[in-house]
Amino acid sequence: MDEKNKFEDEIDLKAVIKSPSRMFGLIFPYYVVLFLVVGIYFIKHLNETSLNRVPPHYTDSLDINVNVEVKKGGVMPAIDLSIISNPTADLIETGKKLFVTNCSSCHGNEGKGDGPAAPALNPPPRNFHKVDGWTNGREFNSIYKTLEKGVPGTGMIAYEYLPVEDRISIIHYIRTMADYPGIDDKTIAELDKTYELSKGIVTPSNITIEMAEEKIAEENTLSEKVLNTYFNKINSYSDQNTVELFNKYVSDKQKVISILHRDYSTPDYKNIFISRVILSPLESGFKPSITTLSKEKLSKLYDMLIKVVS
Ligand code: HEC
Repeated sequence: MDEKNKFEDEIDLKAVIKSPSRMFGLIFPYYVVLFLVVGIYFIKHLNETSLNRVPPHYTDSLDINVNVEVKKGGVMPAIDLSIISNPTADLIETGKKLFVTNCSSCHGNEGKGDGPAAPALNPPPRNFHKVDGWTNGREFNSIYKTLEKGVPGTGMIAYEYLPVEDRISIIHYIRTMADYPGIDDKTIAELDKTYELSKGIVTPSNITIEMAEEKIAEENTLSEKVLNTYFNKINSYSDQNTVELFNKYVSDKQKVISILHRDYSTPDYKNIFISRVILSPLESGFKPSITTLSKEKLSKLYDMLIKVVS
């Protein structure tokens, strides 16, 4: 063996330092091991989020519904028109309290248009002690209109949600701040005609979504007796081929009948029925295989069902 191919017994460090490529070859394995160890350590210690293991949480917007307050509807009491022409001291006192809670932030406690929110408003809130510059006007009816509709494009919003009597009492309080135009019978008649104050205002009942869903479910549950008459009608239907289709492609007979019973009076229901059956057979009570039926057969099936339920 010649000198060149002989393995070195001992590594000559001095020679190695002089030859960078040899040095690299010697150090390289240590680096590989070092990187591996550090890399494995790093990956093992990644947290759930970095590894994307935490399932994303989607909030269904339907879950964040805020229910309305349950309220029995009725007629907002018709008001006695005499409170417009002859306000009692009590009424004006109530008006003052309501003014302070609802209006003074802008109009100021004394109605001088200098409430804490006033500096930010352009145009500024009205000074009720001044006669000039009113948009709607200072007559009783004009102020009523301002409260009903607000002044569009300004900070003055509508207060139509305040009960009529409260609004009237506030207006009377405002009228004590300066000399306002008088109120004659014609004015009152006009106001009554416009807003039907002496008729009262009908407000609908409020129920929660859950209550509404329960009610709908209740209304749509057909009694056993009704269902049976429907099934009997189907079985004795003249076109037995279509009856066969019904038996073959329906997975939930009760569901099919209930949905039809509920919806058949919807305009253009035939098309709705057919597209629903094709798009979501299971939800409509049919087997998925029904989607292979021709439109003509679906149409026959529909005609039979509609005869049965109507
Ligand atoms: C957020 C501030 C704000 C609040 C609260 C507010 N107003 Fe006003 N109001 C205004 C502003 C601004 C104007 C001036 C509108 C304009 O220049 O036409 C105004 C104008 C008015 C006018 C005069 C309308 C006209 O014809 O010029 C009346 C009357 C009035 N408010 C009554 C009330 C009453 C009553 C309340 C409480 C129930 C109330 N406002 C609450 C900001 C407010």
